[in-house]
Amino acid sequence: MAAQPSLCNSPPPMESQGKKSADPRPPSNYTDLISTLPLEEGWAPICTRKYQGFWIPQRVLPGIMDMQQNFKARPDDLWVLSYPKSGTTWLKALTYAIMTRAQYPFDHHPLLRRNPHECVPFVDRTYSRGQASEIEAMPSPRILNTHLPYSLLPHTIKSLDCKVIYVCRDPKDVLVSRWYFNNGMRPQPVEPIPFTKAFEMFCEDNCPYGPICEHVLEYWEESQRRPEKVLFLKYEEMLEDPLRIVRRLAEFMGCPFSPEEEKEGVVEEVIKLCSFDNLKSLEVNKTGKLHPEFVLTKDSFFRKGEAGDWRNHMSPEMARKLDRIPEQKLEGSGLTLHGVDVEAAATNGDVQAQVLSKLFVIFFLFFGCLE
Ligand code: A3P
Repeated sequence: MAAQPSLCNSPPPMESQGKKSADPRPPSNYTDLISTLPLEEGWAPICTRKYQGFWIPQRVLPGIMDMQQNFKARPDDLWVLSYPKSGTTWLKALTYAIMTRAQYPFDHHPLLRRNPHECVPFVDRTYSRGQASEIEAMPSPRILNTHLPYSLLPHTIKSLDCKVIYVCRDPKDVLVSRWYFNNGMRPQPVEPIPFTKAFEMFCEDNCPYGPICEHVLEYWEESQRRPEKVLFLKYEEMLEDPLRIVRRLAEFMGCPFSPEEEKEGVVEEVIKLCSFDNLKSLEVNKTGKLHPEFVLTKDSFFRKGEAGDWRNHMSPEMARKLDRIPEQKLEGSGLTLHGVDVEAAATNGDVQAQVLSKLFVIFFLFFGCLE
């Protein structure tokens, strides 16, 4: 059932774009083209259009089209990329803390006063607001973020061979995280999306920036082809072994920790600064909005910060149904998307099924013999 059209976020009006920034290049008017693209309203107020194979929120679509045509990459740009709700905020904080560690003491770090999304801009939205000049004015090296799949990235990012760090997450937890995030955006008294409806939409590849498997697979394949330029991470392994991941990030970024830094505990300081508990507790991340037009407050980016919360929202059957999608779509790629504990749980399920079927055979043979 389609949601009420009035709930849908439309693209920002063109006349409001570029006002503050006095951008010399106002975004072109893509409205006519956008209105012809297939529309999905189930995740309202985020409404999406199918653009080049992916469901892109229509609010940022004009910015993305502008970006695809006009974005000027620099060879030392670092891109932080993700399917939304996969750990972007954390990865932004980590990369920013690693890059700026020599500039600021950890007890006076900008991340204590600014939300990670204010330190690493979400370029899709900046372009959509007509403020591309903000990105152009950033000093090098820039850390930039988009949720675009690899195939939709502006061409110059690829031709200049910019470094890319991608984070993925168990789709079941992505869905749960998305569901809370979206429901938080629905104005009172609009009912939350029932979880079963969100689940069905997700399974049908209908989710902002989806389909998720194709999104992840594009970056996975690129990371296999060019490991020195594309680093592929999993949220779950970041939680499991942050020391290893932070060292890996610094190496990949070309600024590995020196023996002195290791001795002084700088790696641990980075992890502590960017930890979920620390960021969530900071005043700057508790209230206020990233932008006046953004419905949610900054605390919405810090909910639970765990792996496996899907267990509190879906039945084992639902989990199995969702798991089968990446299993099929990623088959042969060498990539799996569900966490280790989940695989163990699935194995336990299989063992139970095997025991039951053996009991059934014994029962059948026994009573069969009696007859
Ligand atoms: P949950 O909703 O499951 O808690 P994104 O940043 O891509 O929007 O992803 C949001 C998810 O990352 C949320 O997951 C959020 O709680 C979690 N998150 C945010 N900051 C984090 C951090 N520093 N460490 C671990 N998880 C974090």
